[in-house]
Amino acid sequence: MTEEDFLFRNTHTDSLENGSISWQSPSNIALIKYWGKSEPQIPKNSSISFTLNNCYTTTTLEFSKKEVSSNDHNIIVIFENEVNVAFKPKILQFFERIDRYVPFIKNFDFVLKTRNSFPHSSGIASSASGLSALALCLMSLEKQLNPSITDGYFKQKASFLARLGSGSAARSVEGEIVVWGEHSEIIDSSDLYGIQFPYSIHSNFKNYNDTILLVDKGEKQVSSTIGHDLMHNHPFAKNRFAQANKNLGRMSKILQNGNLKAFVQLVESEALTLHAMMLTSNPYFILMKSNTLKIIENIWKYRDNTTSDICFTLDAGANVHILFPDREKEKVSAFILKKLVPFCQNNQYICDNLGKGAKKIY
Ligand code: DP6
Repeated sequence: MTEEDFLFRNTHTDSLENGSISWQSPSNIALIKYWGKSEPQIPKNSSISFTLNNCYTTTTLEFSKKEVSSNDHNIIVIFENEVNVAFKPKILQFFERIDRYVPFIKNFDFVLKTRNSFPHSSGIASSASGLSALALCLMSLEKQLNPSITDGYFKQKASFLARLGSGSAARSVEGEIVVWGEHSEIIDSSDLYGIQFPYSIHSNFKNYNDTILLVDKGEKQVSSTIGHDLMHNHPFAKNRFAQANKNLGRMSKILQNGNLKAFVQLVESEALTLHAMMLTSNPYFILMKSNTLKIIENIWKYRDNTTSDICFTLDAGANVHILFPDREKEKVSAFILKKLVPFCQNNQYICDNLGKGAKKIY
């Protein structure tokens, strides 16, 4: 598929007056990280993620035909029941980026009502779930205007549009494991959209758990836009992109053969490498907090004293995602509660697990 394949074909768009569409779309956590991109939202390396189940955004898009046609995008954004002006520029920018592919959006006034299942300002990125939910709503609108599109095209274009809003959002349309970015060992992988991991996944990864420890719920210290930009003149960028692609090949094998010891090693190494890129960029950032390190030390101690396959990964922030197989749930949950939750801000954490992807509400 090329970008041209995602242009809107049907020209009879006058029939639809108004309506409302609602989607629920999950967050995801990358195992092999995307950090570094070029225009238009093309990743410098391929990435792979677990789709989450309990952390999601629910978005309702109300649309009504404009009374007077114009080229402007007219959107009112309502976040958690209140009109939100802070999100509006990002959404307007998103609409401008995608209107070539969904030109009919200029024919409507929109009210966008959105809320997250996870606490507001938890430090959990909502751009992946939020922008994928919105992209899916727009695809449902496209489907009403052009009912002949297939389910496969629907999902692919939803991911394609979501990517233009936020790279990681391309990985939030489907479950349970998604690859985004062209990779020689992953058939049908693309820089333009995410695809479901195309090989059979070992049973060790069934219902895999992700407990998210909220270490620091403050505003992000570095926005992802600035963070990705820092990779442009980064002295280690070239090696990092090559390493990430190599790691994705290794991860693909691990997911198929179920080697959890290798999984633990690779996932943690990826998380620390992401942070190493920020530690060594110009300007430099330390995004971990002292409690992040204490949690990591405790996980390593626990692993030394048991046969556990628990491990951690990190986003571009201080929160810690604890990954573990379902058969360890009881023991690891007790350990988390006793030893790790005390390091969380206000003892807050979220229990999540692998999810199946976005769901249409109506
Ligand atoms: C560290 O997808 O938030 O979470 O494309 O600028 O919106 P934009 O960036 P974003 O970057 C995510 C970076 C990451 C790693 C990952 O999810 O792969």
